[in-house]
Amino acid sequence: MHRDFTSYLSHPVFKVIKKYLEDNEGSAFVIGGFVRDLLLEKKSKDIDIVVYGDGLEFAKNVAEILRVKKVSVFKNFGTAHFRYKDVDVEFVTARKESYSKDSRNPKVSPGSLKDDQYRRDFTINALAINLHPSSFGELIDPFNGETDIENGTIRTPLDPSETFSDDPLRMLRAIRFASQLDFKIDISCLKSIRDQSERIKIISRERITDEINKILMSPCPSRGFKLLKSTGLLEYIFPELLELSGIETINGKSHKDNFLHTLQVVDNVSKTSDKLWLRWSALLHDIAKPPTKRFDKKIGWTFHGHEELGSKMVPRIFKYHRLPLDAKMKYVQKLVRLHLRPIALVKGSVTDTAIRRLLNEAGEDVEDLMLLCNADITSKNEFKVKRYQENFKLVSEKLQAVEEKDKIRNFQPPVKGEEIMKSFNLGPCYEVGVIKSKIKEAILEGEIPNSYDDAKALMLTIGREMGLEIKESLN
Ligand code: CTP
Repeated sequence: MHRDFTSYLSHPVFKVIKKYLEDNEGSAFVIGGFVRDLLLEKKSKDIDIVVYGDGLEFAKNVAEILRVKKVSVFKNFGTAHFRYKDVDVEFVTARKESYSKDSRNPKVSPGSLKDDQYRRDFTINALAINLHPSSFGELIDPFNGETDIENGTIRTPLDPSETFSDDPLRMLRAIRFASQLDFKIDISCLKSIRDQSERIKIISRERITDEINKILMSPCPSRGFKLLKSTGLLEYIFPELLELSGIETINGKSHKDNFLHTLQVVDNVSKTSDKLWLRWSALLHDIAKPPTKRFDKKIGWTFHGHEELGSKMVPRIFKYHRLPLDAKMKYVQKLVRLHLRPIALVKGSVTDTAIRRLLNEAGEDVEDLMLLCNADITSKNEFKVKRYQENFKLVSEKLQAVEEKDKIRNFQPPVKGEEIMKSFNLGPCYEVGVIKSKIKEAILEGEIPNSYDDAKALMLTIGREMGLEIKESLN
């Protein structure tokens, strides 16, 4: 008994394909992620079509009916692609020949769709729906992908070692889907990933990073990262993260497992924000703990300077993972560098000066920094967590109050370099920088208000003290 999915195929692309097949020879099926997402009741932005016959010609004809002008054809791969409104539509030619044992003549057989389905990564991605008018909307599910979706299982249509050996990226995809969908990976798949994890080395960094980003964007990213570690993949794709793992004990004093702590921070931050780069900041916030780890007989384990060193490690890590080396990287560097500052405020006395300094350094990203720091509170002691979080609220309120009063965020000293040069008949020189930074310091320290008149008065005082010649009209 076949299930009918006609009512889900209302997209114009499907209607046009159906009409085209009423008037022309051939067969076509929607397959892969679109069908999986349909069964999961999720919206999908990509449509993949498998075609019997000349898939490239088929794509061009369908595009013409839809009045799509640009069709990209990749002859070598037997694929064609176009964009219709906000949907990417890809056509693939199915292998239509099948050879029987006793004949060398290829014959078209209904098995050719199954051949295509066999070659896909997971049963949940191998589901197809017929688009031919005679069976429009019929689900074709030779490997019980629908049941696997219901049970939340990632399984391969073929022996997993074969599926993963065809394309080792699929080992990462298995973990990514498990993390995104909160599915479990079938035991034989897991074993196979463990057995051939080293083969991930042949996959390009870009494709690996794409999967890491998808794991990071899943609802509970720790699930994916724990699987990466237990399968052995982490060692090859992110050795610095693996370094965080483990507990050392000296004289009965242990430090926490920084890998598990990091993952908890990533999960915590993911509950409050969908920003990929904030999640990256959480992933890297303690990345320099292993190289800064020391044991002191009196105070126990320390990680002095891990925030500074961590921030310095970010560009190398971004380069390695082919991540953008632009403002996004700077943002991550900044959050890693500042991640201890709010907590230091919480523990110590919260002076206006300390708050102004933090606001000045964090600028636009101060809220994200607070989210990261809040997520960083992972103590098992509920009482401690509660106390920290309450103090945190105080710091947040204070940050807001100081910002309203002093407008320090994105703060530029109210007297510009040019005005300093004019006032003292100077060209660009060392003295101008000194005066500028003294004014900035005075504002941050709360010695003068953040206003033009006060800053200018201070500028003149400093100039006099430095023995500079002052423009006549100002004297
Ligand atoms: N596929 C595969 N092996 C891969 C990549 C993809 O077998 N290494 C197949 C799967 O059937 C998949 C389809 O190609 O469903 C489309 O791949 P892709 O667009 O990369 O992924 P989706 O499954 O659609 O998922 P997402 O869009 O979340 O990446």
